[in-house]
Amino acid sequence: MRQRTPAYIFIPLTMLAIILAFTMVTPVETVAEPGFKGMINNLFTHLGAVVKQGIVWAVVAIALVMLLIINALNKVVETQKFKKLSAEEQAEYIAESKIGFFTRLFSSASKKQSAEEEEAIIIDHGFDGIKELDNALPQWWLSLFYFGIVFCITYMLSYAFTDFAHMDREFEEEMAILDERDAKWAEANDITIEGAVNKSNDPAVVEEGKKIFTQNCTQCHLDAGKGGIGPNLTDDSWINHENEDLFLNIYGIVYDGAPHNPQMRAFGQRKELSGLAIEKVASYVYHINQVEKTLTEADGAAAPQGDVVEAWKQK
Ligand code: HEC
Repeated sequence: MRQRTPAYIFIPLTMLAIILAFTMVTPVETVAEPGFKGMINNLFTHLGAVVKQGIVWAVVAIALVMLLIINALNKVVETQKFKKLSAEEQAEYIAESKIGFFTRLFSSASKKQSAEEEEAIIIDHGFDGIKELDNALPQWWLSLFYFGIVFCITYMLSYAFTDFAHMDREFEEEMAILDERDAKWAEANDITIEGAVNKSNDPAVVEEGKKIFTQNCTQCHLDAGKGGIGPNLTDDSWINHENEDLFLNIYGIVYDGAPHNPQMRAFGQRKELSGLAIEKVASYVYHINQVEKTLTEADGAAAPQGDVVEAWKQK
């Protein structure tokens, strides 16, 4: 007679299977994150969404009651069967039941039949002297097999009738979340000329502006703004003087581009830089123009272009 699987094994396993099944049919909004941390994060978001549903707890509770009933019934059946065993078999059964479940599970993999037992289960065919035994399949193997079937059915049903595991839909949802985040970011960062503030007094902003300048502007204005394809930005001469205020003049040109020269393109209008980034880079340009030493042809900088604007001269 076979030993019963203890309740502390099959009850938690069944519960786990129920929760897993619910994980498949519960829609969640997670933005995929790369790496191990992202995986763990997503798992917890998923489980969090699952346990928030009342239906899950109801099903788990009903399942628990049913499993306890099944366990009690199994016990009754076991006692009945036990009574029918011979005294010798009963002693053997009791001895075996004293071994722990896991020890039994592991040793079952390497268990060998005696010669008589083999005789009884040998199949009557063979080839080259090789015979086949009609062994019973191991319990762990059968369990996996049945679990596979249940998993497969749940998966197929969830795939067909819920939002579970549809890559295109998940992709669209994630994109929608990202778009929303981008829109929020742009709203907070995309200031126009009305909101722009000269922050050239703030060394941190100037430093950030310098980074933006290095990435976007040095290919034409060269490092430190000494001028190349684009004019020297450190001197007192300006081709464009659209605005009375120097800082706003710089901001306007970077946002809208130079009105008569498309080489100096509209970084703001073209969304290459956010309004906030332009505020930073304009603060940097203001800083190199008003605070840093003016670079002249003697320093290898470009010759002045445009008109000297008295009010903007470096003090
Ligand atoms: C593709 C080359 C190019 C790039 C990149 C470029 N510029 Fe220019 N920039 C120019 C040219 C050319 C002019 C002169 C425009 C004109 O003649 O009106 C100019 C003009 C300017 C002016 C006005 C100068 C004046 O004398 O009127 C400012 C300020 C300026 N650029 C800042 C920037 C900043 C900041 C960046 C980076 C975000 C940048 N530029 C990127 C080519 C460029």
